[in-house]
Amino acid sequence: MAVILQNRLVADDFWMMQVEADTAAAGGQFYMLRAWEQYPVLSRPISVFDTDGKTVRFLYKVVGQGTEHFTTLKPGDQIKLDGPHGNGFPDAQGNIALVGGGVGIAPLYLLAKELKKRHPDSTVDIYLGFSGQPMLVEEYEKTADRVTVNVGGFVTDDIDPIQYDVIMTCGPEIMMKVLYKKCVDTSAKAKVYVSMENRMACGIGACLVCTCKTKSGNKRACKDGPVMEGWEVFG
Ligand SMILES: Cc1cc2nc3c(=O)[nH]c(=O)nc-3n(C[C@H](O)[C@H](O)[C@H](O)COP(=O)(O)OP(=O)(O)OC[C@H]3O[C@@H](n4cnc5c(N)ncnc54)[C@H](O)[C@@H]3O)c2cc1C
Ligand code: FES
Repeated sequence: MAVILQNRLVADDFWMMQVEADTAAAGGQFYMLRAWEQYPVLSRPISVFDTDGKTVRFLYKVVGQGTEHFTTLKPGDQIKLDGPHGNGFPDAQGNIALVGGGVGIAPLYLLAKELKKRHPDSTVDIYLGFSGQPMLVEEYEKTADRVTVNVGGFVTDDIDPIQYDVIMTCGPEIMMKVLYKKCVDTSAKAKVYVSMENRMACGIGACLVCTCKTKSGNKRACKDGPVMEGWEVFG
């Protein structure tokens, strides 16, 4: 069990929880979180928003019983963390765009920090799409070269794919699909990576609940992903 250090409302239905955990989690990986004994039956997958190696921060949106329960937790309470799971985003260099929609912005914060630390000469632009109140924009601005915020529109309209060598995205599947198609339609050379946040049960590759059909066969989002190449999923 891990001790909760902070759990606060950030904006609308979005909360940030900080938990004690020795970890080397990377951007795009996730934990299975559980803060109840019996019901709901399953742990909930939540991406690593940030880590300093001793603590992990999670940005979560309240959508149902599990995430609603998370909001009741106070500093000093305990939570079961299982992970980190998944492959995370690959390393990348050059002109990089990170594109997030809604709670899909969560894994991009740590990812941007890692990329800038490893490759200070690379350019990391972040595109954040919100349907409601924008949030954490100043935090993202500290990690990236440029942050573009879209409120109430289509964040995919803001990006010109031909400017980039690599595009990494997380958010609603339709947003990622439109972005991938835009890359194809503009003949962009950018390599595209998408994070597939399918519903999960075990989180460790055993139950196949999270299976998605790809051009390279069926893949488990929890074990083979959640990060996959755009062409595999949308090509
Ligand atoms: C790899 C991965 C990383 C994720 N990272 C984050 C994160 O950083 N922050 C965050 O807030 N959420 C994240 N999610 C989604 C999160 O796991 C779900 O929102 C959560 O499990 C819902 O639990 P609940 O009990 O509150 O809602 P439930 O009662 O289980 O569901 C409520 C509603 O949410 C929908 N829902 C449930 N799971 C998902 C899902 N995976 N994708 C889309 N809709 C879903 C259901 O269809 C239903 O309409 C991630 C999911 C995956 C697979
Ligand atoms: S959630 Fe069980 S195999 Fe992915």
